[in-house]
Amino acid sequence: MSAERARAAVLAGIGAMVPPRVVTNDDLPDSLGTSDEWIRTRTGIQQRHWADPGTATGDMALIAGERALKSAGSSAVDMVILATSTPDHPCPATAPEVAARLGLGVVPAYDMSVACSGFIYALSAAAGAIATGIADRVLVIGADTWSTRLNPDDRITAVIFGDGAGAAVVRAGDPDEPGALVGFDLGSDGSGKELVGVPGGGSRQLSTGEPARKTDDYLYMRGKEIFTHAVDRMSGSSSRLLERVGWSASSVDWFVGHQANVRILHTVADLLDVDRSQVVINLDRVGNTSAASIPLALSDVTGSGRFTPGQRILMTAFGAGLTWGSAALTWPSLTPVLT
Ligand code: ACO
Repeated sequence: MSAERARAAVLAGIGAMVPPRVVTNDDLPDSLGTSDEWIRTRTGIQQRHWADPGTATGDMALIAGERALKSAGSSAVDMVILATSTPDHPCPATAPEVAARLGLGVVPAYDMSVACSGFIYALSAAAGAIATGIADRVLVIGADTWSTRLNPDDRITAVIFGDGAGAAVVRAGDPDEPGALVGFDLGSDGSGKELVGVPGGGSRQLSTGEPARKTDDYLYMRGKEIFTHAVDRMSGSSSRLLERVGWSASSVDWFVGHQANVRILHTVADLLDVDRSQVVINLDRVGNTSAASIPLALSDVTGSGRFTPGQRILMTAFGAGLTWGSAALTWPSLTPVLT
């Protein structure tokens, strides 16, 4: 790495976990009034994994983090960022406990709450910490346990969400080397906060002194509107990023979008002029795992060897907030650690 060049964040390790319990579309309760056929056709999801009682986000983040550190070949990191909207507690943050359980010492560790865009935001924060010399190696984790917040009577959310965790180690390196994160585009629009979220449990509700209802703790989503925003924001953000980093759409080898709905991913790919065969899909097996979605998909392809070093990867995500973000990455040579 030459002294006069900016330090880039380079992907050095990847790891993931999903809880063992598989819930197929047919396993969902009849009371939801849905069907395997509807869910497959409208979302592409065939099954998801839900955590067993007693398993929290931090437990899954720990395992994904361990695997990412193994994949990177070293447990030396000097920062941990955990993207999650389903933390173990409202306070304290989950990341310091995960760092302690991983034996990482007294490194800075914090949570980032950006819903399904969380992993991209956390990667950008890690890249910023590396560029400014605050950190040399960062463990970035995306983990969510939305099954704990699903309304059993709401078929809009209950069929989509799954639990999981994915993690990456990024280290300081050269912008030209395989694995370099070469650019980001981030955005938010809080005027859309009513479209998806959990109404209760925060200071907004507690400050009113109103008695809480059970449904206040559940995730709700205005699905159709979110669908439209997801398409607009992920395609717009991706286009801006491609222009910023000087990549044409035809030069992109793989498109890794937030795994919420296969129809969203195909529509975004069509708008970008990226062939649908280059779209990475794993939502059929894991559903929408929120902040874990992108690193789970990356872990999946690392295990299968589908990506080759030097290939151009475009990642994009959208979530509650509303928030969105995209990242451009050249693929490194990675060691998959699946167990
Ligand atoms: N099973 C059967 N029927 C259903 C279901 C279901 N699970 N869900 C909705 N329907 C019905 C509706 O009631 C409606 O019936 P009607 O025509 O009689 O009124 C019909 O199907 C169509 O409903 P839509 O809401 O228009 O269905 P749509 O095709 O939009 O699919 C879905 C709904 C899957 C939720 C879709 O809108 C979607 O994927 N949205 C985006 C999700 C997303 O991107 N989330 C990311 C952010 S989440 C976060 O950050 C935490």
